[in-house]
Amino acid sequence: MADLIKRAAEDLSAAKMVTALTGAGVSVESGIPPFRGKGGLWEKYDPMEVAHIDSFMQNPEKVWNLLFKDMKAVLDKAAPNDCHKGLAKLEKLGILKTIITQNVDGLHQKAGSGDVIEFHGNMAWQRCMDCNKRYATSSINLNQIPPRCSCDGILRPDAVLFGEMIPPDALWRSRKVATDCDVMLVIGTSAIVQPAALIPIIAKESGAKVIEINPEPTPLTDDISDYLIRGIAGDVMRRILSQMEKML
Ligand code: OAD
Repeated sequence: MADLIKRAAEDLSAAKMVTALTGAGVSVESGIPPFRGKGGLWEKYDPMEVAHIDSFMQNPEKVWNLLFKDMKAVLDKAAPNDCHKGLAKLEKLGILKTIITQNVDGLHQKAGSGDVIEFHGNMAWQRCMDCNKRYATSSINLNQIPPRCSCDGILRPDAVLFGEMIPPDALWRSRKVATDCDVMLVIGTSAIVQPAALIPIIAKESGAKVIEINPEPTPLTDDISDYLIRGIAGDVMRRILSQMEKML
């Protein structure tokens, strides 16, 4: 592992433009469960039943009760960990340009990252399905489920559900920063949900080095990633940053 940490520190220091793609694994150390694997949300629930737009339209009360209520409770308490903080520091050092995140927890921004593309939207905001008025999730009252707008319309998270399109500006910008970067960090994603999983492939095809950080291999590991640093995100980021400081 020490060799790969050193290699990553060298690759990041030499890069002209770095982009990061992050997934649920980066927020595990903040107490937010991932979707897949041991302890993952989709072990407990069928995503097509609780996170598909059709299920929500058919029965918003059920989806709020099964999924969104718990997510709100977990996210209200979560704080950035060393991976979020390390990525924010890399941006301040002028090394990392943009984070593309599949996460809806807003923790990259809380850690201080300025350029974050929220590929799957954000759970920090709700919007009315009738009039589009937006509410901070922390401010909404869950005495009534589903929560309602002042116009009586049903509120839904400003996040992308299964069966919905990726916001076009997020898709377009992600493609651009993947094409333009010369190093892509791929951290804590199982890389199986499309179209997010295509982003590292676009980077690779455009000539970037792809560095994966994950305790487990993914479908990218053999063919797309230049190397995989097997470890937990916060610990690996901390070690890469301390190696970079030694090199200054
Ligand atoms: P997944 O839950 O599919 O994958 C989490 C990844 O994080 C796995 O590869 C784990 O090995 C890894 N992991 C776990 N703990 C980690 C740690 N401490 N440090 C680093 N890595 C760790 O999450 P995503 O790939 O983000 O979409 O899932 C993609 C999308 O599927 C989500 O955005 C969500 C979900 O359904 C929607 O809701 C639309």
